Amino acid sequence: MYRLLRPLLFRLDAEAAHGLGVQAARLGQTFGGVTRALFPRADERLAQTAWGLRFASPVGLAAGFDKNAALVPFWADLGLGFAEVGSVSAQPSAGNPKPRAFRLPADRALVNRMGLNNDGAEAVAERLAHTERPEGFVLGVNVAKTHSPDILGEAGVDDFRQSVRALLPHADYLALNVSCPNTAEGKTFETPEALDALLTAVMAEVQAASDAPPTLVKLSPPATGGVDAGAVDELVRISLHYGVAGFIATNTASDRTGLTTEASRLEAIGRGGLSGRPLADRATALVRHLYGVTDGAVPLIGVGGIDSAEAAYARIRAGATLIQVYTGLVYEGPGLIGRIHRGLVRLLDRDGLGTLAEAVGADA
Ligand SMILES: Cc1cc2nc3c(=O)[nH]c(=O)nc-3n(C[C@H](O)[C@H](O)[C@H](O)COP(=O)(O)O)c2cc1C
Repeated sequence: MYRLLRPLLFRLDAEAAHGLGVQAARLGQTFGGVTRALFPRADERLAQTAWGLRFASPVGLAAGFDKNAALVPFWADLGLGFAEVGSVSAQPSAGNPKPRAFRLPADRALVNRMGLNNDGAEAVAERLAHTERPEGFVLGVNVAKTHSPDILGEAGVDDFRQSVRALLPHADYLALNVSCPNTAEGKTFETPEALDALLTAVMAEVQAASDAPPTLVKLSPPATGGVDAGAVDELVRISLHYGVAGFIATNTASDRTGLTTEASRLEAIGRGGLSGRPLADRATALVRHLYGVTDGAVPLIGVGGIDSAEAAYARIRAGATLIQVYTGLVYEGPGLIGRIHRGLVRLLDRDGLGTLAEAVGADA
């Protein structure tokens, strides 16, 4: 079905096509029974427990697709195990001027510079307070600093903390987006000093909560040359020191290495974060490194270029307990979720494994 629709959707600007997808999803949400009938649940062998939460499927929705948490029941109806809504920031933001999302079909990739457009923490918290949480479905809430070059340093940390305070009562897990490449000031929180200052404030806020959700840090992809072990290990050390419970690897990439799309097209698009297939090997390398440096003791979410069961399985064998999809959904449609579920069971059978948990880190 999606194969027929895709050529039509791809004639539209990428963000306009996303808007149509959201309309279709709203319809799917209204008729949840139909959606559930069309998209079967994952096999029991794929269920896992992480942070004390049961994930009926290892496949989740990556941050950025449902920034304002408008479609939570729909993601559950599609058969996903979890969704990460956001990024949400303390203040609402319209993001960058359009156009700000672009397809690179030859590379099965996207470039976006959305600029953290979202309704703001208060509005999203209010929406989540009135959203019925689907049973057996895990909800992650991804938080980022407000997209403004004027909110920097201590003010930036405070901004982050405000969002965490507003949203943590509604989150099964919190994700700290310290690696958005599209910040107005062009900086991330991925220097040891910036991460330390952020986690000092944010983790105090989390730990003061009566029902503190596990908190994960979302990292940038490594450069194409490979993982900078010294730099990553320092960020891991700081994170674990403050009680971070896991990592999400990876966010989009700022560079454009290894693409087949013509240079003139890339130049016309301009800056933004690269997602999709070109990210897959780099994101896998970081997952493998994180699994090794943490001795597999903290669950990892693998994301970046996963568009098949084989890609999902490779990420899990590299050390990811869970995986997320975004660009793969744009190219493959929602049928991707069922294909990953069925393919994972087939791959477990091939390798003589009983459950997916046995595959986690098998190739780390
Ligand atoms: C249009 C778009 C918007 C995104 N917005 C966010 C965001 O708000 N917060 C975030 O942490 N990641 C965001 N991401 C990154 C994705 O969550 C994911 O880390 C990245 O796209 C790699 O996965 P993929 O190759 O499956 O797309 C966005 C990605 C895209 C394509």
